[in-house]
Amino acid sequence: MTLQGRRVVLGVSGGIAAYKAVDVCRRLVDAGAHVAPVLTEGALRFIGRTTFDALGSERAHVSLWDDEHPIPHTNLGQSADLVLVAPATARVLGLYAAGISDDLLTNVLLATRAPVLVAPAMHTEMWEHASVRDNLATLRRRGVHVVEPGIGRLAGGDVGAGRLADPADIVEAAERLLAPADLAGLKVIVTAGGTREPIDPVRFISNRSSGKQGHALADEAAARGASVTLVTTVDRPTATGIDVVRVDTAAEMADAVFAASDAADVVIMAAAVADFRPVAVAAHKLKKVDGPPEVRLEPTVDILARLGARKRPGQTLVGFAAETDSVAANARDKLVRKGADLVVANDVAAPSVGFEHDTNAVVILGQHRPDQEVALTDKRAVARAVLDAVLATREQNQEPPAP
Ligand code: CTP
Repeated sequence: MTLQGRRVVLGVSGGIAAYKAVDVCRRLVDAGAHVAPVLTEGALRFIGRTTFDALGSERAHVSLWDDEHPIPHTNLGQSADLVLVAPATARVLGLYAAGISDDLLTNVLLATRAPVLVAPAMHTEMWEHASVRDNLATLRRRGVHVVEPGIGRLAGGDVGAGRLADPADIVEAAERLLAPADLAGLKVIVTAGGTREPIDPVRFISNRSSGKQGHALADEAAARGASVTLVTTVDRPTATGIDVVRVDTAAEMADAVFAASDAADVVIMAAAVADFRPVAVAAHKLKKVDGPPEVRLEPTVDILARLGARKRPGQTLVGFAAETDSVAANARDKLVRKGADLVVANDVAAPSVGFEHDTNAVVILGQHRPDQEVALTDKRAVARAVLDAVLATREQNQEPPAP
């Protein structure tokens, strides 16, 4: 994870959404970050410091004057890899934009050179006020990053814009900010999920793929600066900025991939594409009384093999191989047969691996690299290893041949 071992100052200011900062704190810590909570006086009216003492990585900081450290703002500001303010009230945004430091949090904001991410939350009237808009525009111009609030229920039962963004989205934005931008400038296509091949209007042939590994690859590639097109059969949330193309069948997936593949630097076929589809789709639901239907199948287009056959120089192709036995041998065969640069093989018969799980264990095979085993871990970590292998392969391919 990009947050692993990183120092995050979590500023919490005084709005009703302060209670959601608890979730943000927990998620940051779960992702491996060292979290130093800084609570304003207003925040303390909504939520007790004990909660953050317990969930953060160090005791919450609440005062410029009564801290363990004699100059807490410079200490916190200088040591931070990221300062995240969630929720950020109109007051904090205004003081920050004006360069006024009247409490510990606003002092930290002015004392840090680390990237700053603010997640505003306030009532709609305040959020839409010209002064708040201007202050945010000023902060953005100075390089401050903003997680926009959403529309929803606000304090007092009103509904409107100004509701704190989802804690998961806030943490994802933090991850994105801290990720190395080593894929910047690259166009990456990722496919995800199992295709559905219709038999009649209500039935289809499919497989157990959940799309989680493909979506993790898309999220990780986007976090590392790539421009990502995700061709997927599943409705799962994705990182903002990803171009999502929702498809069902192998034919639709093929069309979407081929439409974008000429311009792509990297294509990762993580989808479980059906190898066969019904020759004809019944126009009406097949009825039981008519007896067991005979469903004749025909092969689908092998997207990866076709991409391999027309691969242009500089393009990197990654296939996946879900195997139940002779994993490495079958995967190597696929690598060569389909003209891929890398194949990511998993033993789907092993426990907690592959389909539907949140974890995976793979072997990454390449034409000119030793096999790399990635032991059981979460799918985002597998995604990181696959993208590292993609970069290493691209560097290797750029090297001039030995004289
Ligand atoms: N794939 C594809 N198009 C297909 C089928 C598969 O692009 N019609 C891709 C998958 O996305 C995956 C790789 O090919 O990246 C491996 O798919 P798999 O079905 O396991 O390969 P097969 O050649 O069909 O081998 P097997 O005999 O094991 O089914």
